[in-house]
Amino acid sequence: MQEHRLISAQALGEEEINDTSLRPLRLAEYIGQDKVKENLEVFIAAAKSRGESLDHVLLSGPPGLGKTTLATIMAHEMSSSIRRTSGPAIERPGDLAAILTNLEPGDVLFIDEIHRLNRSIEEIMYPAMEDFAIDIVIGKGPAARTLQIDLPPFTLIAATTRPGLLSSPLRDRFGINCRLDFYSEEDLSRIIARAASILGISIDKSGAGEIARCSRGTPRVANRLLKRVRDYALVRGSGIIDGDTAVKSLTMLEIDNYGLDTVDRMILDAIISKFGGGPVGLDTLAACISEETDTLTDVYEPYLLKLGFIHKTPRGRVATEQAYRVMGYPAQGRLEESSLFEE
Ligand SMILES: Nc1ncnc2c1ncn2[C@@H]1O[C@H](COP(=O)(O)OP(=O)(O)OP(=O)(O)O)[C@@H](O)[C@H]1O
Ligand SMILES: [Mg+2]
Repeated sequence: MQEHRLISAQALGEEEINDTSLRPLRLAEYIGQDKVKENLEVFIAAAKSRGESLDHVLLSGPPGLGKTTLATIMAHEMSSSIRRTSGPAIERPGDLAAILTNLEPGDVLFIDEIHRLNRSIEEIMYPAMEDFAIDIVIGKGPAARTLQIDLPPFTLIAATTRPGLLSSPLRDRFGINCRLDFYSEEDLSRIIARAASILGISIDKSGAGEIARCSRGTPRVANRLLKRVRDYALVRGSGIIDGDTAVKSLTMLEIDNYGLDTVDRMILDAIISKFGGGPVGLDTLAACISEETDTLTDVYEPYLLKLGFIHKTPRGRVATEQAYRVMGYPAQGRLEESSLFEE
């Protein structure tokens, strides 16, 4: 189901590869996330002036906000080569040892989805990050010996959508911790305008604004919607994306003003109509919409929280007044008020 969502923040199929032309290469081209950018600028300049590698960096935030992009930019700004792998791809301790011992001084090692790294493998990471060394056990039983292998200085850049799942020893070993947040409509408009000029698409300010409004605060969604709207403008419009063309094609794509899709609406509807507005536990809610609990927390919930459509409480998720309004239910408070008058 995930695969076919036009506004899924996760990369769809070949998108990750095809997107490279849209990936900014310099920090200055990276739009938004000003705080993160400002900090990184300082850390990168400082490391460069000392002639050292950059401290290890942890990038966290929901899918599609630009973690991989930022990792590539950092390597580029440090003039380092980048090796890419991911938590689930490192299956055995030997896999990680091989990657680490093949690094060149100053390299960036990018590990995506670090929260899915096996615990026993994670432990190899501790001395590697702290002392640039790994311990390898040779032989078995009483004859076993531990051999320490020195590593070249390197920078680990790790990305995660679930920072909460990282063990504290691992988390503590990152000198730089960056949390990416959803983008403002203004920043998204700029990202759309930039992508349009790279892809040779004509778009005006209001066209970009309309697409930005439906992009769930997520650059990946913005870029994808831009391409679909371009198709519409080519076939049905004048080829130029203005506000009117954007609205018409977004309507045709069944994307509403908030960027909500059927699954988001199912979630809100379930909380309101099946659980009286909540609180309802995450697992129950996930089962109710036939999704994994992880998908619910990583993919859907962050944006619904950000819009203020749901709240987290100790006993579960609650739908807000705003959610009632958007879903076309009478607001809770108002319902009680009006029933007062009727009696
Ligand atoms: N700040 C930005 N400025 C311009 N374009 C951006 C920015 N951030 C992201 N993008 C665009 O959005 C796309 C998705 O970004 P990216 O792949 O880096 O996200 P991610 O956070 O790594 O996602 P995931 O969690 O799924 O790995 C990129 O192809 C890039 O073109
Ligand atoms: Mg990524």
